[in-house]
Amino acid sequence: MQTLSQVLKASNAPVALQDVLTTTTNTCIDICKALHKGSLAGILGVAGNENVQGEEQKKLDVISNDMLKSDLMSCPAVRAVASEEEDDIVPANTNGEYLIAFDPLDGSSNIDINAMVGTIFSIYHDQGEKPATEADFLKPGTEQAAAGYVLYGPSCMLVLSTGQGVKMFTLDPEKNEFVETQESVTVDKDTQEFAINMSNQRFWSESMQGYVNDLVAGKDGARDKNFNMRWVAAMVGDVHRILCRGGIFMYPWDSKDPTKPGKLRLMYEANPMAMLVEQAGGKAHTHTQRILDIQPEGIHQRVPVILGAANEVDKCLSY
Ligand code: F6P
Ligand code: MN
Repeated sequence: MQTLSQVLKASNAPVALQDVLTTTTNTCIDICKALHKGSLAGILGVAGNENVQGEEQKKLDVISNDMLKSDLMSCPAVRAVASEEEDDIVPANTNGEYLIAFDPLDGSSNIDINAMVGTIFSIYHDQGEKPATEADFLKPGTEQAAAGYVLYGPSCMLVLSTGQGVKMFTLDPEKNEFVETQESVTVDKDTQEFAINMSNQRFWSESMQGYVNDLVAGKDGARDKNFNMRWVAAMVGDVHRILCRGGIFMYPWDSKDPTKPGKLRLMYEANPMAMLVEQAGGKAHTHTQRILDIQPEGIHQRVPVILGAANEVDKCLSY
């Protein structure tokens, strides 16, 4: 079995991109170790602040953000970083060639119950003479040079795309390195499993309610087949399940807070996951367009997300 560094060396990814990926994933190994210590290290619970999105920060949100930020800032290939936990972008090295946006700890409400969380990242190539600005980050997801996540579950896994399919790696804790465990990931076009937070049902659009009603009606309804439902409450866990055994995941627009067009953030949740899902043969849309085609307007912009099995995403959009 090949290690991550062997796979990267054998790929045609530029050396500077390999450096950014190695730095990011090594930091994720450190985050994994911090998570495993849990209460023993006194790192569970709230940090006592809110992030720029008005969400309560957990200690581990802050710790993993600080770890990624500091390691990436000292990687010469990194031009700037953007994070869910930082109000503004953080310029790193003016001569760096890559911008990286990340969600340092996705699904962090799962920390309290010792359930799945992960780190999601999205990398763009960008060179300039001046320190990077937010405007440099505002590129559509189609321009991502690489995207991936590290899932901190029963085993620690890296799922990565540099634009030539999707590979899965598993952390060998003895050797302290990621080892390739699936060379090529594909998502079936059809599915009988969906993921959505049903408690928001009454706030969805009429068409989304109609679609989910038909899923729930199963064999007795218009779809004439039964569906199963799953909800990890961490996007990284739900998308991982889809990459492993298929399905459709939705966090649609809802009317709970009319100022928010969706819950998930485009730059460090929707775009990297959309790249992975598309690279595995699935689809990723808002209710009106392909996610990767969106021209971002801000680093913390939110979008509705419908992704997974291609035919099921089409079916949902047909409502
Ligand atoms: O980052 C936002 C997030 O935690 C996602 O990981 C997850 O899919 C979603 O929010 C969970 O939302 P809810 O609290 O509605 O279950
Ligand atoms: Mn998140």
